[in-house]
Amino acid sequence: MIDTKGKVYIVGGGPGDPELLTLKAKRIIESADLVIFADSLVPPEIVEFAKEGAQVIGSKELNLNEIMELELSAVREGKTVARVQSGDPSIYGAILEQMRILDQEGVDFEIIPGVSAAFAAAAVLKSELTVPEKSQTVIMTRMEGRVAMPEGEQLKDLAAHGCTMVIFLSITRMTKVVRELTSSGYTEDTPVAVVYRVGWPDELVIRGTLKDIANKVRAAKITLQALIIVGDAVDPGLDAAGAVSHLYSADYTHRYRRGSGTQASGNGKG
Ligand SMILES: C[S@@+](CC[C@H](N)C(=O)[O-])C[C@H]1O[C@@H](n2cnc3c(N)ncnc32)[C@H](O)[C@@H]1O
Repeated sequence: MIDTKGKVYIVGGGPGDPELLTLKAKRIIESADLVIFADSLVPPEIVEFAKEGAQVIGSKELNLNEIMELELSAVREGKTVARVQSGDPSIYGAILEQMRILDQEGVDFEIIPGVSAAFAAAAVLKSELTVPEKSQTVIMTRMEGRVAMPEGEQLKDLAAHGCTMVIFLSITRMTKVVRELTSSGYTEDTPVAVVYRVGWPDELVIRGTLKDIANKVRAAKITLQALIIVGDAVDPGLDAAGAVSHLYSADYTHRYRRGSGTQASGNGKG
């Protein structure tokens, strides 16, 4: 157990654009004595906010023990640590094992949420991921790789829902992704968008369908740091006529507003 006032912040560093850092994340990076950032996915601009004299270390070549040793020795000296991860730490952030060790060592820690690449990509695509009458569900998942998928979570199982799907960590297995998605749930003309390095200067968007997206990705030579978003939600020609939320409809009444020609009712949800 560490008897100290030092603290670890596990900070969501967002997708890459420093302006997508939360004010809290920026404040913590600015005040930390030690900043350890996931430099495979987080650009150095994010940690440029570190104060003068702070130690700033990239973690891509370090293993968990080495990272935790750095964190624990700083905390033992009463220092503040910002462990900056990409996007939001709760999505494929591998934070559970860090938190277990911090708990075992009695170290005070806090998680600062961040903008996931999923939401930054939706913004770049100008897409609503939950489109009325099309998809009211978003599945965030990945293709099985070295990490085995739990029972019932293979892409083909999830594809059966036909809803909006955001696929992380899978761009190198595009052909297999397409095969699994089309084996159940999605047709070949289902819209797909691949967003490479959203929020970085070389950000790239590739749009297509399940029929042609694998070839387009191969032609663009994208092999890392990309998201695959599947479903009608990313159809650039989506017809708004059938996809209007009740929430702001003139004749829809809810708790906060009486619609034209209706009785007050509803739960306020669009
Ligand atoms: C270990 S996961 C981390 C996800 C992160 N926690 C988040 O919420 O965005 C890494 C994967 O997230 C996606 N990713 C992370 N940053 C990205 C970015 N700037 N643009 C596109 N995809 C990104 C890619 O699929 C990448 O393989």
